[in-house]
Amino acid sequence: MTTRRPRPPRRAKPQPPENIPPTEYAERRARVLEALNGSAALVFAGDAEHSIAGKWRPDRHFLYLTGIEGEPGACVLFNPASEDPKRKICLFLRPLNPEMERWDGYRETISTKLKAQYGFDSIFRTIALPTFLAAAARRCRKLACLHPFAGHTANVSPDLAVFRKVTERVVGVGIEDRTMLVPEMRAVKSAAELGLMRRAADATAAGYREALRVLRPGVPEGEVQRALERGYFGFGAEAHAYEPIVGSGLNATVLHYKDNTGVCKGGEVLLIDSGAQYRGYACDVTRCFPVSGRFTKEQGDVYELVLKAQSAAIRAAKPGAMMWEVDKAARDVIDAAGYADAYIHGIGHHLGLDVHDAAPDGPLAPGMVITIEPGIYLPDQKLGVRIEDDILITKNGNENLTSMIPKSIDAVERAMAEARR
Ligand code: GLY
Ligand code: MN
Ligand code: MN
Repeated sequence: MTTRRPRPPRRAKPQPPENIPPTEYAERRARVLEALNGSAALVFAGDAEHSIAGKWRPDRHFLYLTGIEGEPGACVLFNPASEDPKRKICLFLRPLNPEMERWDGYRETISTKLKAQYGFDSIFRTIALPTFLAAAARRCRKLACLHPFAGHTANVSPDLAVFRKVTERVVGVGIEDRTMLVPEMRAVKSAAELGLMRRAADATAAGYREALRVLRPGVPEGEVQRALERGYFGFGAEAHAYEPIVGSGLNATVLHYKDNTGVCKGGEVLLIDSGAQYRGYACDVTRCFPVSGRFTKEQGDVYELVLKAQSAAIRAAKPGAMMWEVDKAARDVIDAAGYADAYIHGIGHHLGLDVHDAAPDGPLAPGMVITIEPGIYLPDQKLGVRIEDDILITKNGNENLTSMIPKSIDAVERAMAEARR
């Protein structure tokens, strides 16, 4: 008789946390402090409008470095020259205002509980910031801009605007450009961030599944949008990552179409560019569906060409590649087929807390997530085709985070047939 050895218990694959742990935010701030090399810096959350229109989101650099979502007017001061190690990184919050809080939500007094909740040793009110900043400037002698510089038609970036005033009041202080520091950090996603981005992709896939259940000739574009939403929110996503584009026929050729008030007609191709936001992280996907369930020969030819261009670009997306090289890989395919003037936008962008996320200079590196989204737009034929996936750059190449959403002609037509059953 053979004795059977008990099987070792199967170990579950460790899952990344459902939230970014507070220690990760503290580590990010410590990295910024170190990289500042003795310069002082400020990161602002930005101000919320007092209105009921839309949910306010803080500046994404602030969110990335703190995880704090509900403190408009807040900022973080990096003061490497502070003698007190606990004051090298300080959080400043707007003073309490009990009357405003009846409108906007109740807030806490500064306490050990609030410090633990926000993960900061030092929290002050913003009325104390001018004194702290003048002292930091005098000791550090250099003020580093972290927020992106604005174009000349927009407001000066918030830290630069303040630093200019400081240099008028404290002598011998310089201002330096460190605007690439946080984008370089944000571009390379941590395991915890990637866990959330995979959830955003799963939520998006759930939305597309719902959309296919309602898609048939005669259905309003808005009904398809509502089906996407059912899928997203049913999965646990908190928002659209951006205004969804649900455009059929000619509407699919309008790059930023978001009226979604047309009707999906038999014989047309419906373009859906939509993604869920999950715990702050965006997904961004485009798929095209023949409203009647089958592509015509002409639609299929254009679709296959865009798919071929996208595949070439995905193959080019690897560590060391530049975004322009990824773009060229797709554009070469489309140009060679004679459609150069029908591909009128870029290949894609970084993705993360923002749908068009902070983008560092230089080549792609493992941990970055980019979209790859070539398209061909033929208004004369009332046909727009774009195919967009979210691509994680890995050590050896890449991984498509949104590959579960049907894409080949065969897979699209099969998914549509199954959804209609
Ligand atoms: N949906 C916006 C974009 O694809 O960039
Ligand atoms: Mn998109
Ligand atoms: Mn995109």
